[in-house]
Amino acid sequence: MAKQPVIDPKRIVILGATSAIAQATARRLLEKGGAGEVSFFLVARDPYKLDAVANDLRTRGARAVTSYAMDLDNTEAHAEMLSSAAFALGMIDMALVAYGVLGNQRAAEMDPRLAEAVYRTNFLSPASLITWLANYFEGHSRGCLAVISSVAGDRGRQSNYVYGASKAALNVLVDGLRNRIDRTGVQVLLIKPGFVATPMTAHLPRGPLFAEPRAIGAGIVRAVENRRDTVYLPGFWRVVMFMVKSVPGFLFKNLNM
Ligand SMILES: NC(=O)c1ccc[n+]([C@@H]2O[C@H](COP(=O)([O-])OP(=O)(O)OC[C@H]3O[C@@H](n4cnc5c(N)ncnc54)[C@H](OP(=O)(O)O)[C@@H]3O)[C@@H](O)[C@H]2O)c1
Repeated sequence: MAKQPVIDPKRIVILGATSAIAQATARRLLEKGGAGEVSFFLVARDPYKLDAVANDLRTRGARAVTSYAMDLDNTEAHAEMLSSAAFALGMIDMALVAYGVLGNQRAAEMDPRLAEAVYRTNFLSPASLITWLANYFEGHSRGCLAVISSVAGDRGRQSNYVYGASKAALNVLVDGLRNRIDRTGVQVLLIKPGFVATPMTAHLPRGPLFAEPRAIGAGIVRAVENRRDTVYLPGFWRVVMFMVKSVPGFLFKNLNM
């Protein structure tokens, strides 16, 4: 099969632009794309944080930055927002789906509505955006759709299976979508970070397994450049998760993980 072309993203939509990983990735995309070359359409729900991120990218030399404040749980408003993004940028080269919530596992075990909120933000909402974006990119026979999932989606563990289930569903959706549209020239990239030192994990004690958002951002941009399908970031998580997935169920159920 012919090798698909690599996208050189200059017109970029970031969904969840205030996330620490998204910010680091945007800076890296700008460094790589060159000052005056890269335009962003940034979406997040806090307009003040969003302004700060937009100003930072302008100061670093972005060609144009458009901000769009919305709660991405509002799936009814997705089509209008994404149409605005396509209009503002002229053409979308790349979209990064970068938002999410960790939720509270213990509380969600007691109240299924709390689990539902995690499923909504981490799966139902991105699923809606991904559907629109996939059809947009497929229609243009080009583009890069990059989705941040998590190693937590690889196997359910007692400490975070609600969050893990939301990411596992996202993994299956993205894998299936790639199988549908990769051959049309669209890169569908699934990103599985391990622990990253961001506001999402601020309550956890930092250990040697924690990576900095800057390293994850650099890894995401490398994966786009190399037209990868799925990346574990940092890469050692591929080995760790291979081992976690290899433990037989009858042993796994007795482990405290
Ligand atoms: N940190 C980790 O260890 C880790 C590991 C694996 C995967 N990830 C994934 O990486 C992605 C980015 O997370 P992060 O680590 O960069 O954490 P973060 O800095 O806390 O970012 C999470 C972002 O999601 C946004 N968000 C949450 N619900 C939203 C909604 N309904 N509408 C719009 N935005 C919403 C938050 O916006 P507000 O500021 O408005 O709340 C925040 O900007 C997430 O998908 C996360 O699951 C993180």
